[in-house]
Amino acid sequence: MNVSDSERVATVLESTDFELTPDEDSADIVLFNTCSVREKAEHKLYTRIGQVRKLQSKKKIIGVLGCVAQLEGETLFDKSPAIDFVLGTKAVGRVSKAIESVLEGQNKFCDLGEREPNYDWSVAETQKHSSFISFVPVIEGCNKFCTYCIVPFSRGREKSLAAPEIIRHVLKLCKQGVKEVHLIGQNVNSYRPKTIEGLEKFRGATPFSKLLRAVAATGIARIKFTTSFPRDFHPDIIEAINENENLCNWVHLPVQSGSNKILRLMRRGHTIENYFERIDKIKSSVRKISLTTDIIIGFPNETEADFGDSLKMVDYCQFDSSYIFKYSPRMGTPSYQLEDNVSAEEKKQRFIELEKRQKFNQHRIYESYLHKSVQVLIENKSGKNNFDLSGRTSCHKVVHFKGSANLLGKIVNVQITESKSNTLYGKIL
Ligand code: 5AD
Ligand code: SF4
Repeated sequence: MNVSDSERVATVLESTDFELTPDEDSADIVLFNTCSVREKAEHKLYTRIGQVRKLQSKKKIIGVLGCVAQLEGETLFDKSPAIDFVLGTKAVGRVSKAIESVLEGQNKFCDLGEREPNYDWSVAETQKHSSFISFVPVIEGCNKFCTYCIVPFSRGREKSLAAPEIIRHVLKLCKQGVKEVHLIGQNVNSYRPKTIEGLEKFRGATPFSKLLRAVAATGIARIKFTTSFPRDFHPDIIEAINENENLCNWVHLPVQSGSNKILRLMRRGHTIENYFERIDKIKSSVRKISLTTDIIIGFPNETEADFGDSLKMVDYCQFDSSYIFKYSPRMGTPSYQLEDNVSAEEKKQRFIELEKRQKFNQHRIYESYLHKSVQVLIENKSGKNNFDLSGRTSCHKVVHFKGSANLLGKIVNVQITESKSNTLYGKIL
């Protein structure tokens, strides 16, 4: 979501005659788009501001955008006097105005306001993170209020974009030669637009599965979506994937814990049995669907037995990959009131053990691709050599192989010849 926000900020700046440079040293203005989901991410902001200040030969304008900006607001000016302006998560469309205010002499500009009604979600071709892959926001914010999570505070309530706007966005990207869109949002499958305008023709048990079928009907080569919320994960999503080749065979479904006690304390709104039902449905699909997740270890009151449940859960689910996080107390969230009583050492041990178990399972899953053929969208040259290419499969695995750079942006068949823990290697067929 932050990469997507940054692309749109860069688009606005370019259209208002600012020149973008990746070189911090020569920049007159430096913008930090920030994340506050864990404490480490938030600390990075202060470290980075320090680095930029050390570098600067002349005074730069420093702006802070995104989640830390939204949560801290004007208090950021006291925490770091080098900051000239602060723009909240929904105020990023007004970035040029913020810079102009500072240039005109306004000291310490802060805008934490709502999105403008005609906010433009599109990204200039020059500012896309990839020429062939684009993010398409479908919902922003979150209403779930998991007890550990700062997102509902930093990104506000769920707001779904109107379906015709999303479809128009995808059609435009198609015309520009984009091969893959990622429908993004904190919880894409909680998609609930004000009206079903634009979706009337499409079947679906939920507005999200209607939207998936509508996006599939645009004919774009590949559609991925992230992140899904377990409680709202209707089996019809799997039906839609089975019916449409261009809906990719990858689901990211964060579980957070294998213990019902911890899931309750996290107020996730699902039990581990509910989660397993979803997994069973995904695994029994006609198409082989890869599955990834997020897991938090060391949540307050997580005992060895609770952690053991997370190990069992990982074995049951056989994730293709997982992001494991140590619990990080976030001020303002409900669980901040609970004592952070799993010691740093225990968190470290549990992290290592869970990661080891995941890697063990993952190794076998990756090995099962050996000698098989997969379709890869070629995204990058992966080394110094022009013939080292890489891309991702429909199931979102990274594959490296040799081929000519003029194949960039093409979808090719690759036979897998070698597997490592996070990567596959192969040759173009
Ligand atoms: N501590 C640790 N991990 C967290 N996440 C969200 N909030 C926290 C927190 N306070 C993780 C969750 C979520 C992912 C994006 O970040 O696993 O799914
Ligand atoms: Fe955070 Fe829970 Fe919302 Fe995900 S669903 S963004 S973890 S509150």
